[in-house]
Amino acid sequence: MMRCFHIFKDKSKRTGKSAPELGNNTGNSAPNSNRAAKSTGSLSSPTARSIPEMYREREGSLRVFSLMELREATNNFNRLLKIGEGGFGSVYKGSIKPADGSEAPPTIVAIKKLNTQGLQGHKQWVAEVQFLGVLDHPNLVKLLGYCSVDGERGIQRLLIYEYMHNKSLEDHIFNKSVPSIPWIKRLHIILGAAQGMTYLHEGLEVQVIYRDFKSSNVLLDKDFNPKLSDFGLAREGPTGNQTHVSTAPVGTRGYAAPEYVETGHLSVKSDIWSFGVVLYELLTGRRTLDRNLPSSEQKLLGWVKQFPADSKRFNMIMDPRLQNQYSLSAARRIAKLADSCLIKNPKDRPAMSEVVEILKQALEESQGNSPSSRSTTPGVLTKPSRRTNDASTSRPVLPTAKARG
Ligand SMILES: Nc1ncnc2c1ncn2[C@@H]1O[C@H](COP(=O)(O)OP(=O)(O)O)[C@@H](O)[C@H]1O
Ligand SMILES: [Mg+2]
Repeated sequence: MMRCFHIFKDKSKRTGKSAPELGNNTGNSAPNSNRAAKSTGSLSSPTARSIPEMYREREGSLRVFSLMELREATNNFNRLLKIGEGGFGSVYKGSIKPADGSEAPPTIVAIKKLNTQGLQGHKQWVAEVQFLGVLDHPNLVKLLGYCSVDGERGIQRLLIYEYMHNKSLEDHIFNKSVPSIPWIKRLHIILGAAQGMTYLHEGLEVQVIYRDFKSSNVLLDKDFNPKLSDFGLAREGPTGNQTHVSTAPVGTRGYAAPEYVETGHLSVKSDIWSFGVVLYELLTGRRTLDRNLPSSEQKLLGWVKQFPADSKRFNMIMDPRLQNQYSLSAARRIAKLADSCLIKNPKDRPAMSEVVEILKQALEESQGNSPSSRSTTPGVLTKPSRRTNDASTSRPVLPTAKARG
């Protein structure tokens, strides 16, 4: 399990209120609500709303659960129902009875109980409720509701999600005790994840930086459709003509972009770097950091450099569990795509929508169709500076985010 790292600057006091919108108009406890406090200048459009604003307009779309109900759903948070443990809390499988008391079958859910020892648990919970209360895309996990209790014995913060039957991508690509995912399925999964991230970067009136893209946050439903989870670290991107927001680095070691770790400069291009890391995890079946390997192989990105995408030796990095059942040319294409995501200068990394195009080509190629010479030429990967359309400077103007039904 990857540990998360945090360096917190913000020590602002938590308010006593517990609802994520906090029922007032100042929204002080919302991490992103105070736009004036942002390090970056003016709004790109006077009509662009912040995530907390959109959340308030949509109030009531999430169900508020009682702690009692959740205790009942998890047999009092029984250890046997625990399905995951992350840096920020434990995840349980639960079964919720219909609210109307009818005979309808219970809803199976995943319940995350946040670790609320520190201030961070509450902040992440607020962020997650607000982002997932607003965002709506087939490749993002659905938040059904939340629970918040401030009692004498401390505070409780919980999140209730749709249950994802196949857990996370991490649980499949690194776990030798479950069947390996075949090539085409891997491509479908990573393409869906890329489409979810394109929605965050390019599909809303505000840019959303996900900040925690990693294989354990790509959840898989019963048909292996991917959905991004964990929006506790997400934040709004820069506005106006700024290229980044400044923030203390948080995230997961091994996935975070170098400029973000070194300077705290965060942009959508930091997510692109993390995406490149996961592309290599998917090709190789190896973790970004694996202390059980010989020292020269422990760091995935250092190791794969010895086997360039165009070299004869390239196939040496491929996951042995694929048993050679993959398209070598598509694999090379994906390695080149990963390399472009992992370019040191954030400006030279592709935009998420370009990543999607290349993944579609790799999928076509793997399915036996020769890749069409449509929107993206291979050269764009090796000479990204030729691109004129940099998403961080000329974000497409899109209509208002789709409201939840
Ligand atoms: N909605 C869900 N449905 C099924 N399993 C989940 C769900 N959310 C999380 N999990 C499982 O719980 C694990 C821990 O999740 P999390 O607390 O987000 O930590 P991390 O992402 O660092 O592993 C995930 O890797 C996944 O296997
Ligand atoms: Mg997670």
